[in-house]
Amino acid sequence: MSQSPIRLENLGHSMVEAGHVKATLAPLTYQFEAGKFHVVTGPSGAGKTTLLSLLSLFVRATSGDLFWGEESLTELSHHDAAAWRRRHLGLIFQTSRLVGMMTAEEHIAMVARVRGQPEARAEGLRLLDSLQIGDKKRHRPFALSGGEKQRVAIAQALCARPSVLLADEPTASLDRTNAIAVAGTLRTYASDMDSVVVCVTHDHSVIDRADTVLHLQKA
Ligand SMILES: Nc1ncnc2c1ncn2[C@@H]1O[C@H](COP(=O)(O)OP(=O)(O)O)[C@@H](O)[C@H]1O
Ligand SMILES: [Mg+2]
Repeated sequence: MSQSPIRLENLGHSMVEAGHVKATLAPLTYQFEAGKFHVVTGPSGAGKTTLLSLLSLFVRATSGDLFWGEESLTELSHHDAAAWRRRHLGLIFQTSRLVGMMTAEEHIAMVARVRGQPEARAEGLRLLDSLQIGDKKRHRPFALSGGEKQRVAIAQALCARPSVLLADEPTASLDRTNAIAVAGTLRTYASDMDSVVVCVTHDHSVIDRADTVLHLQKA
C-alpha cells in the first residue's frame, strides 16, 4: 500500500504586526505526494520557513486545512500533534544542531531511545556508513567538519524512517560535492521508503535533483 500524501487546502498563515495583518504565507493549495523528493524555493520572505513550521505542526495555520491522507492535521490537539511528530516526522535544519559532548553514535542512540524504536540504532549506524562517516562514529561535533556534522544530522533524521521528512536549506553550509550527496540521499530516501520529503532550498545542485519544484512568491 502506498503511503499518504500531505495535502494543503488554502493553507495560510498571517500575523498582526503594529496593528496591521501581515501574511507570512499566502493561502496555498498543493499536494506533496509520498515517494517523491519535493523542493520548495522562492525569494527570502516568501514564507518557506513558515510553510515548514506549519507542516511540522509547530505553528498553527490561520486559514485553510492540512491533511495527511484522510486525516486532518489542522484539527489535532497540541498533545496529539506532538505524538504525530514523534511518530512520523523527521527534521533537518540549515546547520546541524548537535550536542557538543555527544559522539555521532550517541546522537543516533538518543533518537532510538526518544522514539522508542531500538531498531533505529542499527539503521543510523548503517546510514553513517553509507554517508561515508562510519569511521567517525566516536567523534564529537568539534572533531567533525561542517559537511560531516550535517551528515550526522541527516542520519539522525532518517534512522527512525519518518513518513514525512522536512529539510530547511540543508546544504547551505556545504560545498557542491557534499550538497549533491545530500540531495541524492534525500531523493533515494523518498523513493525507497515511499515517504514525503520536502526540502526548502536555493541550491541548484538540489533543485536539479527534485521530482517537483514549488516556487513560493512573497504575499
Ligand atoms: N515571528 C514573526 N513575526 C513577524 N513576521 C514574521 C515572523 N516570522 C516570519 N515573519 C515574516 O513572514 C514572512 C515569511 O517569512 P519566512 O517564512 O521566514 O520566509 P522565508 O523562509 O521564505 O525567507 C516574512 O515577511 C517574515 O518577515
Ligand atoms: Mg527561511
